[in-house]
Parts: sequence; structure tokens; C-alpha cells
Amino acid sequence: MREFAVQQDTSRAVLITGSTSGIGLAVAHVFGRAGYHVMLHGLADADSVQALRQEFADYDGKVGFSSADVSSEEGCAQLVSETREAIGNPSVLVNNAGIQFTAPTHEFPSDIWQQILAINLSASFYLMRDLVPAMRATNWGRIINIASVHGLVASENKAGYCAAKHGLVGLTKVVALENADCNITANAICPGWVETPLIQPQIETISREQSVDLDTARAQLVGAKQPMAKASPTNAIAELAMYLCGDFASTITGASLPVDGGWTAQ
Ligand SMILES: NC(=O)c1ccc[n+]([C@@H]2O[C@H](COP(=O)([O-])OP(=O)(O)OC[C@H]3O[C@@H](n4cnc5c(N)ncnc54)[C@H](O)[C@@H]3O)[C@@H](O)[C@H]2O)c1
Repeated sequence: MREFAVQQDTSRAVLITGSTSGIGLAVAHVFGRAGYHVMLHGLADADSVQALRQEFADYDGKVGFSSADVSSEEGCAQLVSETREAIGNPSVLVNNAGIQFTAPTHEFPSDIWQQILAINLSASFYLMRDLVPAMRATNWGRIINIASVHGLVASENKAGYCAAKHGLVGLTKVVALENADCNITANAICPGWVETPLIQPQIETISREQSVDLDTARAQLVGAKQPMAKASPTNAIAELAMYLCGDFASTITGASLPVDGGWTAQ
């Protein structure tokens, strides 16, 4: 039987949206360590950007940064153009930027609904639309959309988030089908709880409403949904993203991969 060599092409370039913190930052480090040219992106002040660049200074590949606001089509176009300028056309796109807000549907503010759909769903559409043609031209590409368990199941008070993440899972499947002829895969990673700034407001709400300390609130939040009552480390998501870019993942496409402590097995 023929053996496949597992190796990364170090000339590859990756754009990771929302990589100034949390999951996106972990993904950026894993790709940076592997020698990729890395385009960092997210909302950050000048000092944070400088600190971030410093964190990546020892990696072999080029490092770029964009603070484009991806809540609009124009912001996404700006990100595409700044990425091309800094690292060329990315062969790997990780759509990760996202926001969260919780309220019952009958009280959900419409401006926040629009923001969540714009950042968590439409930005991924615009970036794929604009970056896939170059992947098709080289007959290779990897798209990794960081969705959520909330792309597969619902929770109360998350109308905007669940709508956007279910949409992102569907969109990922469409892009997978459309580009299967060009060695381009598109997959959604669907994390349960991951310890990042995104979930902090929910921990603080439980702590405040139930008069418990933050550790107790965190354990309650995670344990309420996950049979394994521990949040995943950001690297669990980052290493899966890297696996999806390796040779053995070349036929994994259109998949929605939970990393959720058993949340969606129930
Ligand atoms: N943390 C979790 O438990 C969890 C679980 C499932 C899915 N996710 C998803 O993972 C992704 C990353 O989440 P995280 O927890 O690392 O969040 P985070 O808050 O740590 O990071 C979010 C990133 O998105 C960027 N961002 C937000 N709005 C932006 C905008 N308008 N323009 C440009 N950048 C913007 C921020 O600057 C930051 O870099 C999100 O899509 C989130 O929905 C997170």
C-alpha cells in the first residue's frame, strides 16, 4: 500500500479573522509555528497590535495585521485588500470573528440582531466570495468556519447567535459542494464552551444573579450543557484547524465538527 507523506507546505498563507484574542489568536499561533504567513485581524488599539506583532516576531513566515471592521461589506473588502498586500492571497481562510449577546427573542434589540448576523455570518460570506477565486486558480484551498454548537442546536436567549451560526453551518456546506472540484475543502468547527473573553459576560451574569463567585458561576455555565463539565482549551480548536489543512483531511469537507464535551450527543 502506498504511504502518504504528511507535510505542510510552508509557503502557504492564512487569514484568521478575529485573531487578536481567544480562539483566533490560538489558531494564529499554531499556523505561525508551522511556518505559514499569517494575517492577524481584529479590533485592537495600537499598543495591543504592537504587543501582538512581538508575539509573532520569532516565526519564520510573514505577519500582517488588519483592524478592518468586518461588520460591513466595505470592511471585509478592506480586510481582503490589506491581506493581499501583507501576505498575498491566503490559501487558508479561518472565519472566526464573532460576537455574542443574550436576551429573549421578544426583547432582542434589532441593532444587535443586525450586528450579530453581519459579523458572525455575512462577513464569512463576503470573505469566501472574494478569496475563493484565487484558491480555485491554484487548485487548493482550506476554509475553516468557526461556528458553534449553536450552529447545530439551540439555547434560549441566543436568537441572533443561533440564527447566525446555523446559517454559517449551511453556508459552509454550500461552499464545500461548489468547490469540491478544486481540492478546496470547507468545514465548520462547532465548539461548545471555550474559555475566552466571549463567555465572560455570561459567567458574570450568573455570578451576579445567583450571588456566587466567578469559579462557581463558570462551573455552572459549562456543566449546565456539557456532560464533560470543562471548557475546551483554545488550542483544541486551533489544532483541529491545523489538522483540517493536512494531507489526511483532504476528503473532509462540508462537515460540522463538534468539540463540545458531549453537548450535542444528548
Ligand atoms: N468561546 C466560546 O465558548 C465559543 C464557543 C463556540 C464558538 N465560539 C466562536 O469562536 C469565535 C471566536 O470566539 P472567542 O471566544 O475567541 O471570542 P473573543 O471575544 O475572544 O474574540 C473575538 C474576536 O473577534 C474580533 N471581532 C469582533 N467583532 C469584530 C468586528 N466587528 N470586526 C473585526 N473583528 C471583530 C475581536 O476583535 C476578537 O479578535 C466566535 O465566532 C465565536 O462565536 C466561541
